[in-house]
Amino acid sequence: MTSIRNHFPILTRTFREEPLIYLDSAATTQKPQQVIDAIADYYAQHNANVHRAAHIIAAEATAMLEDAREGLRNFLKASDKAEIIFTRGTTEAINLVAATIAGGLEKPFSDGDEILITELEHHSNIVPWQLLAARHNLNIVAVKISETGDLDLADFHSKLSSRTRLFCCNHVSNALGTVNPIQELIHDAKQAGAVTLIDGAQAPLHHAIDVQALDCDFYAISGHKMFGPTGIGALYGKLQWLERLPPWQGGGEMIEHVSLTSSTFQKPPYKFEAGTPNIAGAVGLGATIEYLNNLPMTTLIDQEEQLIKGAISRLKQIPGVRLVGEPSKRSAVISFILDGAHPHDVGTLLDQQGVAVRTGQHCAMPLMERLGIPGTVRASFSLYNDQSDVDRLIQGIEKATTFI
Ligand code: ALA
Repeated sequence: MTSIRNHFPILTRTFREEPLIYLDSAATTQKPQQVIDAIADYYAQHNANVHRAAHIIAAEATAMLEDAREGLRNFLKASDKAEIIFTRGTTEAINLVAATIAGGLEKPFSDGDEILITELEHHSNIVPWQLLAARHNLNIVAVKISETGDLDLADFHSKLSSRTRLFCCNHVSNALGTVNPIQELIHDAKQAGAVTLIDGAQAPLHHAIDVQALDCDFYAISGHKMFGPTGIGALYGKLQWLERLPPWQGGGEMIEHVSLTSSTFQKPPYKFEAGTPNIAGAVGLGATIEYLNNLPMTTLIDQEEQLIKGAISRLKQIPGVRLVGEPSKRSAVISFILDGAHPHDVGTLLDQQGVAVRTGQHCAMPLMERLGIPGTVRASFSLYNDQSDVDRLIQGIEKATTFI
């Protein structure tokens, strides 16, 4: 078995003399030493503001930031570096589109036009659209899920119409692990004339992403969910969109010329990057991509899939465990509840045994309401988890059942 576990210093932490088991990677992944070192090196040797000064350190910092952008372009298979905008993360990337899209449409919004989302979305792919809908008198329509936690494709097709102006959907559900058939969804939404945005927060470590093959208009990711730092992520947007969209934040760096009464703006991506960017974060994300490029991703993803399959079949054998969602294609998330116990109590019992999971609604309240449950216990995996993590999770749950 190929293991990358020893690249991640935090995974050597112990709890009551046992290794601490980290199964909360859907919330945030741990960071390899290489990424931690790259951030320290940036601050120790290259810290300066970018795109402004004439001195050597500024030139180095600028090159490092732009190299990171190029790394992301290649990672997402975008055709042009200008299509990669640095953001604080997926949430900010989606908000950027929600804040600007109306200004870039050839056909303006009309009252009653629709934004199609799904019942599987994270709040960050719901609330920005509600804010947009309120500004333009649009309706939010949501694709239903089936009992397994898959999107109901018949419902999707029945809800697509000439009124659908935007289709916004996650690639992978953070709450149930459902991998959505986004290629097909994007294709059909585009046929109906909708602008398409994919929330890719949970996808990068588990699926190769090719935005040109997907042909989506926008794709959003977060660095911290793919072994990179917090506070940095990216929005991919097709160049023709980014050229049309107005800026969303004003300030230094995004302008070409400023007078006291009006301004002209830079080309993408700089038009959307007002102020000093998170340079250290971008450098860290660049180092993350370099790290990922050197990993045997296919092997690691295959191993992860086997691990999760094994974990699921053992979980099903524990009396009282009920899986929440059994999607036809699942990524690295297992959500479950224990009969007779609140998810928070199960989380606390696992925590007391050194097993870190997330419990609750997972920023997906509408989904939990749809499922009629207060929340779930969520064990989420990454490429560094191994059989010992699954064993400790199973032991932890078995012990938890004895307290309930
Ligand atoms: N979106 C993150 C999660 O699913 C915070 O836990």
